[in-house]
Amino acid sequence: MTRIAAPIASVPQWRHLALGDVDSTNAEAMRLARAGEPGGLWVTARRQLEGRGRRGRHWVSEPGNLYASLLLELSPRDAIGNLPLVAALAVHRALRPLFGRAAHALSIKWPNDILVDGAKVNGILLESVQLSADRLAVVIGCGINCAHHPADTLYPTTDLRSCGIEIDPLEMFGRLAPVMAETIAQWDRGRGFAAIRQDWLRAAHGVGSEVRLSLQDDMLVGTFEDIDPAGYLCLRLASGELRRISAGDLFF
Ligand code: BTN
Repeated sequence: MTRIAAPIASVPQWRHLALGDVDSTNAEAMRLARAGEPGGLWVTARRQLEGRGRRGRHWVSEPGNLYASLLLELSPRDAIGNLPLVAALAVHRALRPLFGRAAHALSIKWPNDILVDGAKVNGILLESVQLSADRLAVVIGCGINCAHHPADTLYPTTDLRSCGIEIDPLEMFGRLAPVMAETIAQWDRGRGFAAIRQDWLRAAHGVGSEVRLSLQDDMLVGTFEDIDPAGYLCLRLASGELRRISAGDLFF
């Protein structure tokens, strides 16, 4: 079957491959990158059969929600470590107009979950593969709960319909794509990260509060003091030591 990626009217420099069922839009974008796809490509699917979440978790992916992965071709010299925060800010910016005067209910939970009144409405999974010495394929996978959300999750979860917002996944994609393009252009491979960090911090949940941070093989407790200029979370432990953390699950 021939699959055609169509130009995106609002973002002419990017294309969109809209799929029905797929294992994972992130997996598909990675396969395309390895097969020579140059990037600037969004892959969306109606349903994912093996949706991937952070830290190897499964992402429930029945029809009705948005499953979208953006493939970018970057350089290993770019400030890739900023991207979780860049992507979160883009999703936050895309959701804000939908909430209108209730936009204050939206916040960002480090590193890249968007919360509505404290409940998670989206997930972002970044993956990358080095294609050559100076070419890195990066996939930004975004799941936005438009119509439903899973039960029994690690963290309280919600969806846009439960918040009184009716939006079709492809209409949500139509809002996300241009805002993601603007935010990535603002990031400018790291040169514009200072302004992104400021906006991210303005929208952040829980800066200054006591948190638990679950790492791959450790659990830390401390005060979430700041996000440093490189995008790391600064955690002040009870001992007074300041830890800079790049990835983990945050609990308030
Ligand atoms: C998380 O655990 O919070 C991240 C979830 C990311 C889910 C999205 S849905 C589109 C893309 N494809 C995947 O397999 N995962 C991401």
